[in-house]
Amino acid sequence: MKTNILVIGGTGKTGRRVVEQLQNKGIEPRIGSRNSSPSFDWDNKETWIETLSGIEKMYVTYYPDLAVPGAKEAIESLTHLAIELGVKKMVLLSGKGETEAEACEKIVMNSGINYTIVRASWFNQNWSESFFLDPIISGEVALPMSDVLIPFVDANDIAEVAATVLLDDTYNGKTIEVTGPELITFKDIVNIISRTSNRKLNFYDITLEQYIDGMKQMQIPNDIVWLIEYLFSHVLTNPKNQLVVNDIERVLGRKAKTFLEYAQETAENGIWSQVEVQ
Ligand SMILES: NC(=O)c1ccc[n+]([C@@H]2O[C@H](COP(=O)([O-])OP(=O)(O)OC[C@H]3O[C@@H](n4cnc5c(N)ncnc54)[C@H](OP(=O)(O)O)[C@@H]3O)[C@@H](O)[C@H]2O)c1
Repeated sequence: MKTNILVIGGTGKTGRRVVEQLQNKGIEPRIGSRNSSPSFDWDNKETWIETLSGIEKMYVTYYPDLAVPGAKEAIESLTHLAIELGVKKMVLLSGKGETEAEACEKIVMNSGINYTIVRASWFNQNWSESFFLDPIISGEVALPMSDVLIPFVDANDIAEVAATVLLDDTYNGKTIEVTGPELITFKDIVNIISRTSNRKLNFYDITLEQYIDGMKQMQIPNDIVWLIEYLFSHVLTNPKNQLVVNDIERVLGRKAKTFLEYAQETAENGIWSQVEVQ
């Protein structure tokens, strides 16, 4: 089926769920990623034209994060190309409390394209599909800032909001802040995951320096270590992040998913019960 809707990052945490939301409405969107056909690579602008050609609306997730060096330039180039190729609307996934992400939002807002910004707090799915999964599987969770209050949000809620605002032009020109319905700490989260998955999890409250040293010892690439340090030191502690916003309820007409609901579903699918491979 021909499609004029594009989901960049359409196999990622939110993108794949936006694709599912659209498919449920009978729309088969084009996916933009390195493994899609045609292939789209943020690091190779030559791949962008084919992916954007014939597209009317697009949902954009930047990889790995709008905070990394080069993201702003990439969003600027993509937005200009989109306008040139006749794309009518862009929904940008952004991050709450990230100065660099706000700079990317401004580029889109001032470009002249119709847009909606979906500005998200940290995702629940970081614990099942991203960097917090391995410690959970190992049973040993060592994190800094264990008492900081965070309104973790569910990627399914983000995707439902993104698909809604993509299709509904009354959201043009608006910024939708997507947070979970409650403020919780890392300690609360590890307790909830332990209870729902029926596993003993040891939690260690460490300093940011110890956390960074640990990542370096595990030979995690420098750019990822930089990003995680930035997210902890600038984003997590930003007071703008420690607020619950009810935009999910406003857009979807129902309450946002709690971390407990997410944890119960995730525990059922068995991802937290895998035995660590030595
Ligand atoms: N995680 C959080 O808590 C959080 C909170 C707020 C905001 N955000 C924002 O969320 C955005 C990421 O969204 P997400 O979590 O939904 O996506 P994601 O899961 O991080 O992204 C994975 C997707 O990106 C594609 N991809 C990876 N490298 C690529 C490249 N070089 N070129 C093109 N595509 C590439 C992958 O497909 P291929 O492998 O096929 O390329 C896949 O479709 C970031 O910009 C971040 O700022 C995240």
